[in-house]
Amino acid sequence: MTEAAWWQRGVIYQVYPRSFQDSDGDGVGDLRGIAARLDDLVALGVDAIWISPIFPSPMADFGYDVADYCGIDPRFGTLADFDALLAAAHARGLRVLLDLVPNHTSEQHPWFAESRSARTSPKRDWYLWRDPAPGGGPPNNWISDFGGSAWEWDAASGQYYYHAYLKQQPDLNWRNPAVRAAMMEVLRFWFDRGVDGFRIDVLWHMIKHAGFPDNPANPDWRPGLPEFLKVLQTNSTDQPEVHAIAAAMRAIADEHGAVLVGEIYLPVERLMAYYGSAEAPGVHLPFNFQLIGADWHARKIAHRIAKYEGLLPPGAWPNWVLGNHDRPRVATRVGARQARVAMMLLLTLRGTPTLYYGDELGMEDVPIAPEQVRDPREINEPGLGWGRDPCRTPMAWDGSPNAGFSTGEPWLPLHADWPARNVAAERADPASMWCLTRGLLALRRAHPALASGSWHGVAAEGDVLAYERRHGDARLLVALNLGGGEAVLALPEGRFRPLLTTAGPPGETVEGMLSLRADEGVVLAREP
Ligand code: GLC
Ligand code: MG
Repeated sequence: MTEAAWWQRGVIYQVYPRSFQDSDGDGVGDLRGIAARLDDLVALGVDAIWISPIFPSPMADFGYDVADYCGIDPRFGTLADFDALLAAAHARGLRVLLDLVPNHTSEQHPWFAESRSARTSPKRDWYLWRDPAPGGGPPNNWISDFGGSAWEWDAASGQYYYHAYLKQQPDLNWRNPAVRAAMMEVLRFWFDRGVDGFRIDVLWHMIKHAGFPDNPANPDWRPGLPEFLKVLQTNSTDQPEVHAIAAAMRAIADEHGAVLVGEIYLPVERLMAYYGSAEAPGVHLPFNFQLIGADWHARKIAHRIAKYEGLLPPGAWPNWVLGNHDRPRVATRVGARQARVAMMLLLTLRGTPTLYYGDELGMEDVPIAPEQVRDPREINEPGLGWGRDPCRTPMAWDGSPNAGFSTGEPWLPLHADWPARNVAAERADPASMWCLTRGLLALRRAHPALASGSWHGVAAEGDVLAYERRHGDARLLVALNLGGGEAVLALPEGRFRPLLTTAGPPGETVEGMLSLRADEGVVLAREP
């Protein structure tokens, strides 16, 4: 076995830049703020940061609407600030991943301005322009992920353009070679500056069916779900030609020793194709969102893990995600006590974990009053529970005003319990979520079995989830009680020494039967 690469052994930490650390008092986080917090991330023990988009943007979708792929939005800083942040990260052994948004631009990107200026514009075909349907109206039934038709009428030029998200986010035409070439230059621009990789936004959306046929109705849609789920995105996403795009990006990444992570929300069976093939590798890590949508039951999760492990193509490296800037926080989904078990799960499965900022504090979704709503998804389809502001609230650093996040009014409210739930307070409390997370990260570093060893399911019943990680002669056993009552696990043969538990100091060496307290997870090492 060849030695594992940094992106295989390491842990990625997602920074939502608006909410991490503000340095200039405008209530919005920025690059100098992130730079000031690198030592905190080193203390925690992560290996890389992925920063959500920081490029110039009208912020209709908070940076996922890019107006210039090769600049920095003034709200976040300057290119010089970015270079300084990158150098400071590298000096500390931290890698930096940026967020590439290649599926769509901002409507204010000069490419789109030129494209929309006239039907004869040389950039007309850079976007997806179509005539009305024969009887009038949008060209087909495709629905925007943020509600309403995915087609916007442009009266001046007399055609519709396609936008999978907001109408301020027109989709690029990735069948046009000029678009491909332009975006590959963007990759090179950042790789040449020293960036260690990209998370690629909505990769599975990038190519649409060439004939733009209607999407089929979704028989499972019911009132209360967002409108875009009324149809299955069969023809608007996940087309076979997308893999050639991933392969082209991968070739450039490989030239620079960089890593690509793809955002893909698909059933695992379809996800695997995004690893590509031996001849045409795709992204290194197609995001695995199995745990984000999972019912929190040991048997169901055990099944998902085994299925995912079983489907991985030869040589493919797994990865795991518990939270991100689009989904409710894990502590809200599974509860405060189980959030500790979930963190142990994330950091002991085989594969690269991505840790969402604030989850190491046990932050929960923050209730957002109607007048505080910022997310366009919530504004377009209020009250469905799909708004993303609650999981994007500011990080809490210490007990100073606004939790040390900003000297100004934060752009979203802090969690109410920030005076206790902040980095400084939790660092001082060995029983805290922050200390548990640091302990797990240290354990990964100390044990190759956790960082890169093989994964083997261990038979368990009821609410207990158990597996082994093996490397050479080393065997680590992870036993997680996903329930609120006591539980037992029949141990495999041998004596096991507890290394870390979610519930206080590790106990005595055990053999035969392991008792687990309510909501307890434990990592044990088999004695030689
Ligand atoms: C991705 C991002 C999300 C954004 C969308 C459109 O899903 O994670 O935040 O709104 O793409 O760019
Ligand atoms: Mg700021």
